[in-house]
Amino acid sequence: MCGIVGYLGDEQAYPILIKGLHRLEYRGYDSAGVALITGRKDLAVYKSKGKVAALEAACEDKDTTGTLGIAHTRWATHGEPNASNAHPHYSESRNLALVHNGIIENYKSLRAELEKNGMTFQSETDTEVLVQLIEYMMGTHKCDLYNAVQLALKNVIGAYAIAILEKSHPDQLICARKASPLVIGVGKSKSGRTEFYVGSDATPIIGYTNQVVYLNDEEVAYMDRSGKMEIANLNNVKVTPQMVTLQMNLDELEKGGYAHFMLKEIWEQPNALRNCIRGRLNIEQKDVNLSGVIDNKERFLNCRRIIICACGTSWHSALIGKYFIEEACHIPVEVEYASEFRYRNPVIYKDDIVIAVSQSGETADTLAAIQLAKDNGAFVYGICNVIGSSIARATDSGTYLHVGPEIGVASTKAFTGQVITLSLLGLAIAKERKTLTKEMYELLIEELCNIPEKMEWTLANNKDIDQFARQFTYCRNFLYLGRGYNYPLALEGALKLKEISYIHAEGYPAAEMKHGPIALVDHEMPVVVIAPKRGMYEKVVSNIQEIKSRNGKIISVVTADDTVVRGMSDYCFTIPDTRDCFVPLLAAIPLQLLSYYVAIARGLNVDQPRNLAKSVTVE
Ligand code: G6P
Repeated sequence: MCGIVGYLGDEQAYPILIKGLHRLEYRGYDSAGVALITGRKDLAVYKSKGKVAALEAACEDKDTTGTLGIAHTRWATHGEPNASNAHPHYSESRNLALVHNGIIENYKSLRAELEKNGMTFQSETDTEVLVQLIEYMMGTHKCDLYNAVQLALKNVIGAYAIAILEKSHPDQLICARKASPLVIGVGKSKSGRTEFYVGSDATPIIGYTNQVVYLNDEEVAYMDRSGKMEIANLNNVKVTPQMVTLQMNLDELEKGGYAHFMLKEIWEQPNALRNCIRGRLNIEQKDVNLSGVIDNKERFLNCRRIIICACGTSWHSALIGKYFIEEACHIPVEVEYASEFRYRNPVIYKDDIVIAVSQSGETADTLAAIQLAKDNGAFVYGICNVIGSSIARATDSGTYLHVGPEIGVASTKAFTGQVITLSLLGLAIAKERKTLTKEMYELLIEELCNIPEKMEWTLANNKDIDQFARQFTYCRNFLYLGRGYNYPLALEGALKLKEISYIHAEGYPAAEMKHGPIALVDHEMPVVVIAPKRGMYEKVVSNIQEIKSRNGKIISVVTADDTVVRGMSDYCFTIPDTRDCFVPLLAAIPLQLLSYYVAIARGLNVDQPRNLAKSVTVE
């Protein structure tokens, strides 16, 4: 949901900002813009509709010199995606330019107030209201920009991460945040002087410096060319910046020879999951150790219920986690859409554990859901991928996925990373609560260790999906069916197809098909059935029979030695045998590849599907 970049230092800012925008394009890509204090000390703003490449083209004949600038890639919330609604926005006097990620909820009343005071507006955005409000504060309070930002933000309801330039002070950069992420990188230029980088996440900063400061809610940062950095809250009380060292490297942010990030991330899964289990799962001793559980043992022993809050793909992995934790730990688990949970007065007990599952760690609804849980005294546990993200910092404890940065908008390796992390969590809780026999505990651990290798087998043995996927280019609907642990995977398979190929798809529990979706089945309807030789195999075989007798096309995911379902299918993806609870980890791969190749056959941009953004920092 919008990406922000900023730079202040000795280097030319424009190339750094553009490179940063490309890395943040996963956050939104309907328009982009840049503001620079140019060599002539002008405050120049250039913007254009479309992706960052369009902005670059628009800037070709412009003055892009200067060593201080801010930039933005947008996912529209207020006002259609066009150049005038794109950021940065000038204030009326053009002395200020501002970029913003988030939503100013009370922008209408603020705008009305400012208009009453004679201010005029160029766009329909909430962001322009913010920059105008800051300028208004500078005028009425006769204060500098740093103070005016604090004063203005006190009047704002909503979410913001902002960066601002001031023409009359061409050596300073100011930024602030509340409920939208913002990271400041502190580096050294070639001449040894301090330079500053700003990003919605650390990706635009990697490669320049590994020293970062994460701004907290309602903090405003001031940086200038002398190397001074100061952070204060909205009451101008100084805060000591906490420097953190980033662990991410540049290679993780590149496509590494793959056509798309999504394809790279699908193929990365075996190694990503090895990284995820490393240090947590000890194969020699057949044991699981999660510090988040060990350090909070009493909480996990005494809890009577777990509530998992998540959105999108993370909600699907949470459902798989529910099945596993209930089975392994005998604790009731509820899975909630964070957006529903936060607004429906849920019953939360003090001995509940609320788990937030989020790849980005920035999803606004999930963040609000855990805040509600905390306010009600529950213990809150985070399962996030992005280190230092808002959710990771807002939770009482947690476990990182450690699957590396996920750039493709459609989540792949984070999904399997979440499933495996929730399994580790279930095993760690079961160990403390002694709810599994030693034999079963060890069997599950052994099998979890085999998963990366079995994923490699799955990738190597489903290589012709690209050829096969082409025949679905013109399909209008797909149905995905699964039972037990594979029902959430059916939901995820359908979501993947929708997200990147724009084909309508629905996931259903296989047995529920009879209560509605079967009416849709005809010779044009591909039905993807997850049918491993485990669990309720015979029942799934009967469901397939029901579809076949209505001429539906069967695409199945079967265990390698299966002959029955294979014989009934129009096409088969094969996976190695594994325990029921881990089938989704393997069966996810062919479903991800199917959606990828259908989208490619339709000529679509899989890394940047229309209308979607990877990090949803607005409600
Ligand atoms: C967006 C992304 C999805 C993701 C969802 C939740 O919709 O496009 O891929 O599953 O947000 O995001 P989170 O970062 O909280 O897992």
